[in-house]
Amino acid sequence: MLDWTDKHCRYFYRLMSKHTVLYTEMVTTGAILHGKGDYLSYNDEEHPLVLQLGGSDVKAMTECAKIAEQYGYDEVNINVGCPSDRVQNGRFGACLMAEPSLVADCINEMQNAASIPVTVKSRIGIDDQDSYEFLHTFIEEVAKADCKHFIIHARKAWLTGLSPKQNRDVPPLDYERVYKIKQDFSQLDISINGGIKTFTETKAHLKHVDGVMIGREIYSNPYMLTDADNDIYNTNTVKQTRAEVIDLMVPYINETVKDGGRAWHVLRHMLGLCNGLAGARKFRQHLSECASKEGANGQILLDAFNKVTIN
Ligand SMILES: Cc1cc2nc3c(=O)[nH]c(=O)nc-3n(C[C@H](O)[C@H](O)[C@H](O)COP(=O)(O)O)c2cc1C
Repeated sequence: MLDWTDKHCRYFYRLMSKHTVLYTEMVTTGAILHGKGDYLSYNDEEHPLVLQLGGSDVKAMTECAKIAEQYGYDEVNINVGCPSDRVQNGRFGACLMAEPSLVADCINEMQNAASIPVTVKSRIGIDDQDSYEFLHTFIEEVAKADCKHFIIHARKAWLTGLSPKQNRDVPPLDYERVYKIKQDFSQLDISINGGIKTFTETKAHLKHVDGVMIGREIYSNPYMLTDADNDIYNTNTVKQTRAEVIDLMVPYINETVKDGGRAWHVLRHMLGLCNGLAGARKFRQHLSECASKEGANGQILLDAFNKVTIN
């Protein structure tokens, strides 16, 4: 999730679930090919890890798929769901739902050039192109390029008139439409996304589709990930306690600081770790107030956790 998640966030998540597939935020082909920063670095612990790419120029997308493979990403996912103006001006994101043959061309070339799978994350429609047939045609055309996995955010995007934030809440969710895609394309791997908050809901969706993607709820309530391996992947794992997660994060934060980063870069993702416990507000407050101060390190996290009462 752009501006929210990063490699520090995924390192934290991976401590709580070994099996959940983690996705990067969207990284554009322009940033990868011409940007100054290293947009692709990650911690080895993050696997299984998917790089989400934003772009539609076949040559650039192909080059980026090769680079993603060299970096060791497990999969590349194409963003066909972002409605922002900036993204539309670059002719990528959700507006690509109207250009399935271009998406298919990208996937064909990317899969010829790299051996990791190329998948797609889309909406159920855009603007007035919101019929079931529109979505069906999109999936059918893109699947011809041998794309086997689609993640579908079960609401359409309005390309004009709504902000990206509104586009995540205002258009109504239509889970049935995604279920129907799975029925009509039973050979494809179909994952559903949008508004899913619990693993009970997740299990209900899994009766109809192959996978569930959760975004905002994990970000606000990350500790729920400690239930994912047992509840969803049917393992028999001993769940990490919050104290154990914290003990593992402290050296990671110290390492980040030693490498020139800020404690806040890591701790900002941990604000919701203690939600639901007495003292959660004080925990968040302590992190918010202290983690960006000069010299802040992992000790800030231990101090914040001391404000929490665990029964
Ligand atoms: C701050 C923010 C940034 C996002 N960035 C991306 C992104 O980079 N790529 C993407 O496919 N979706 C992005 N999304 C959309 C989410 O992946 C997801 O589709 C949407 O929030 C609905 O799922 P949820 O209700 O589980 O959060 C973003 C969402 C938020 C809140």
